[in-house]
Amino acid sequence: MSDQLPLSAPSFDEAEVQAVADVVRSGWLTMGPRTAQFEQAFSTFVGSKHGVMASSCTAALHLAFAALDLGPGDEVIVPSLTFVATANAVAYTGATPVFADIVSPECPLMDPEAVRALIGPRTKAICTVHYAGYVADMVALRALSDAHGLALVEDAAHSPGARSAEGPAGSLGDISCFSFFSNKNLVTGEGGMCTSDDEELVRRMRLLRAHGMTATSWDRERGHASGYDVIERGYNYRPSELEAALGLVQLDKLPAMLARRRELVGRYRLGLERTPEVGFVPFSAELDEMSSCHIMPLVTPSNEERDRLRAAAADAGIQTSVHYQPVHSFKVFQPQAALPITEDYAAREVTLPLYPAMADSDVDRVLGLFAMVNA
Ligand SMILES: Cc1ncc(COP(=O)(O)O)c(C=O)c1O
Repeated sequence: MSDQLPLSAPSFDEAEVQAVADVVRSGWLTMGPRTAQFEQAFSTFVGSKHGVMASSCTAALHLAFAALDLGPGDEVIVPSLTFVATANAVAYTGATPVFADIVSPECPLMDPEAVRALIGPRTKAICTVHYAGYVADMVALRALSDAHGLALVEDAAHSPGARSAEGPAGSLGDISCFSFFSNKNLVTGEGGMCTSDDEELVRRMRLLRAHGMTATSWDRERGHASGYDVIERGYNYRPSELEAALGLVQLDKLPAMLARRRELVGRYRLGLERTPEVGFVPFSAELDEMSSCHIMPLVTPSNEERDRLRAAAADAGIQTSVHYQPVHSFKVFQPQAALPITEDYAAREVTLPLYPAMADSDVDRVLGLFAMVNA
């Protein structure tokens, strides 16, 4: 059996081991000084004034929508080409996710024109996803949100380090939400972060993250508070210091990891350009330079060819995936109108292995196999 090539893998070394050991030795494991330090460092990195770390990006999205006061009767326009958490987090508040189509298979980002057509009297927010690490058309989405008085949220789970001409992902929405899940570009195991310039939204998100309590355990530990009141019905979305410590180490490594991801995507793109019959890579080499290159999507000519490639890859020990099964097709969200471009894309897309520790020869192995299957 040949070597297994995983879809993704975190880049950890002794620095992460040491950081976690330091937290364990300190005796303070939940939200505390390292969390505050990571919030500061990460928000600065993405060009935002404040960071609110949470236990996951799903929790961060829920905090964002709750802080925006969404509730039953409200609608939020979201892409269907995303992980289900984007829509679930809207639904947690009682609001309804309304699904918009993507631009095209070459640009699989939520289409501002599709968003425009869905805006109605109940619409309260637009939440876009920088799919695969490529920043959505925030100029068009901002124009729409300003014109209709809507909040604009970035689901930036894929995109720490991504940017557009307007600035980095994380600085372009009213609130942006990042994921540090194990397969992401910056890994803390579980974990997420809201970034925002809006002091009032940040205050609400901090409050809701810790049960709606006016003082946290860390405040009490430091003698900054002896009691507390509960002034809103909040949640336990606290991160741990273990995750924050990992985040600080990973943030230092992020520029180098990003550079390697871009090299690997460049190698895939060039290789696949030589075998157009296998499929094409969305976006462009120019956009790769602005992307966080989170995943490596390939669009095959047909659903059958996609499934054939996936089966051959599995036989060869190469892990692949599909990003995504369209969220509007899931039972829990029925009934829904068709989204033809999203459905076509999802039927033909295959995600190839991509992570900073991959060797060039790993990319060549995938390319060689795919060229052979389609020969
Ligand atoms: C686009 C998107 N949004 C949200 C999430 C949820 O992130 P988490 O696992 O940190 O809750 C993910 C995770 O896969 C994602 O890809």
